Amino acid sequence: MTDEKINMTALEAFDFILFGGSGDLAMRKLLPALYYRCRDAADLEGWRIIGISRQNLTTEEYRELALQHCRRHVAQRDFSETAWAAFARRLEYLRLDASQPQDYQRLAEKFQPSHTGVRVFYLATSPGLFAGICTRLGAAGLVTPASRVVLEKPLGCDLASAHGINQQVGKVFAERQIFRIDHYLGKETVQNLMALRFGNVLFEPLWNRAWVRDVQITIAETVGVEGRGEFYDGTGALRDMVQSHLLQLLCIVAMEPPANIEADTTRDEKLKVLRALKPIAGEDASAHIVRGQYRAGAIAGQPVPGYLDEPGIPPQSHTETFVALKAELGNWRWAGVPFYLRTGKRMQERLAEIVVNFRRVPHPLLRANAEQAPNNRLVISLQPNECLRLDLMAKVPGESMDTQPISLDVALSEAYHTRQWDAYERLIMDVIHGKLTLFTRRDEQEAAWQWIEPILHSWKRGNQPLKSYPAGTWGPTASSALIARDGHAWREES
Ligand code: BG6
Repeated sequence: MTDEKINMTALEAFDFILFGGSGDLAMRKLLPALYYRCRDAADLEGWRIIGISRQNLTTEEYRELALQHCRRHVAQRDFSETAWAAFARRLEYLRLDASQPQDYQRLAEKFQPSHTGVRVFYLATSPGLFAGICTRLGAAGLVTPASRVVLEKPLGCDLASAHGINQQVGKVFAERQIFRIDHYLGKETVQNLMALRFGNVLFEPLWNRAWVRDVQITIAETVGVEGRGEFYDGTGALRDMVQSHLLQLLCIVAMEPPANIEADTTRDEKLKVLRALKPIAGEDASAHIVRGQYRAGAIAGQPVPGYLDEPGIPPQSHTETFVALKAELGNWRWAGVPFYLRTGKRMQERLAEIVVNFRRVPHPLLRANAEQAPNNRLVISLQPNECLRLDLMAKVPGESMDTQPISLDVALSEAYHTRQWDAYERLIMDVIHGKLTLFTRRDEQEAAWQWIEPILHSWKRGNQPLKSYPAGTWGPTASSALIARDGHAWREES
């Protein structure tokens, strides 16, 4: 029996009610993740997945739609007709208009009044629907003590809207029942970062301003807006990526070791990091941030259109598809260490990584000029390959004492010879088990919005010009200048 099967035997029965059930996220990520978990389960008794949307579909048609997408998004070697048949038997469909209170009665009819099992309401919908759906679920008597609600990001579009949604949802669900999802926290390498920091004695003594020179966190994508033009244009890279994924990664790099990995202990430490972020407001915005938008260019030799020519994008749009910024933490451990964050669509490579640059050796024993000596560097790569790399100096063979960087590389998937779970598989299972550690708490999320808010205001006042960059590059040249002003360079430039 595999480890996965051992994990799954302990799993109790559950109902997984998926709002936005025929949408892009459900089809591309959530149903494939559920397929994998079902495939590896020892016993599917009592599992039920109810897809919900406004589309007029029968359960058979919904299963067919899910099949088409799972074939595309599940690795071929992992797909089997037998596993699919077992999964499909668990899948139902319900047509429901989330804005119509009377429709929720039909959902209520699917449950016995005495039913006390785990009930997951997963809202893969626009955040504008979150509060209404929760209120109507409550009014229809569907929320039991064993119910949980999962809220997809972005939760709101600013502090006020996030606060409003949290207030409304909080009237129906207790905080322990609310799972605000950020799928980056479910990625194996992000968990490994915690293991690396807190499971080894080597790094923690160096993990501070005395030894770390700068930290770079990059999430670069080669894709454009992928048919999500309308959503993306109203959101932009700052809200879509920085407010959530990048700030969460920063928290995990920068937080103090929690006393244990209980949900609140870990989330308390992340909250302290968010509160220590120095505000970037007014004039500071143009000195600390670069905003960009891609124009036509080429990805892997193939021409691609500019952002303004993508479907659903207004011709005069000022939405940013790229952000690079310098963040600083006002606390004892990190004062003076720049954290450079960068994300963009249509960049040269698909890459997500955290780079920790350590300081140079203090004494030029092995080089005439210590200023030119490369520094030690730890690269935690999340994508495209999950790996850890530590750059060390070693002597070049031969007579001289010249040194050169060499890398200690660990490819995580190869180290264990097992398929890595997708982030959504882990997070969905954590929801079912009621484990909140990898989900953001209300105060944490509002603190992230609070830091973003002055930047949004400054942009609204037109303080920050939008720089253009050709698709297939590393973003506007101003992004290199931002970091060069401190005498540093992005990893791919150094
Ligand atoms: C999502 C964003 O949260 O993350 C998308 O809304 C982005 O715009 C995606 O493409 C990136 O996730 P991943 O796991 O593919 O890096």
